[in-house]
Amino acid sequence: MGVIFLKRTGVMLSEQARTKIIESRDSYPDRRSAVMPALYVVQEEDGRLTDEGMGEVAKLLEMPYSDVVGVATFYSMYFERPVGRYVLDVCKTLSCALLGAESLVEHLSRKLGIKVGETTPDGLFTLRTVECLGACGKAPVMMVGDTYYEDLTPEKLDGIIESLRREAQG
Ligand code: FES
Repeated sequence: MGVIFLKRTGVMLSEQARTKIIESRDSYPDRRSAVMPALYVVQEEDGRLTDEGMGEVAKLLEMPYSDVVGVATFYSMYFERPVGRYVLDVCKTLSCALLGAESLVEHLSRKLGIKVGETTPDGLFTLRTVECLGACGKAPVMMVGDTYYEDLTPEKLDGIIESLRREAQG
């Protein structure tokens, strides 16, 4: 499984995407911690991880381009295509597992009518399970794009799905 890096020349990220990356960068004590959220922004904007997008991430986070590519390659599962507009990454490791991640995944699966790895027919949601998201103190946890949802319950998930649906309509 690999990441597809598109060769494009002269196409830069939008101002909005750059702002998002900068905001994310400034929210971490170590700016490099923003590399994953930043790559999501590139993916969201370009549909794929482009050379230019990753180059901009490297510049904005002041880290070597090769390190950005390294992260993208290591986490290639996060950037597979095709996926829905919202990728629901539910942590299935340790603390999250102990606190009911599996039943949360089943809940989402029933609610959306898809299995893990699948996308809803309307293209809105892809359901995945992932390894520890680094927020174990707030388990169970799900990440959607660059947003963490913590201390999850089935009711909370229902609310999140509804608000994402509303966001998609608006
Ligand atoms: Fe789920 Fe760490 S075990 S976030």
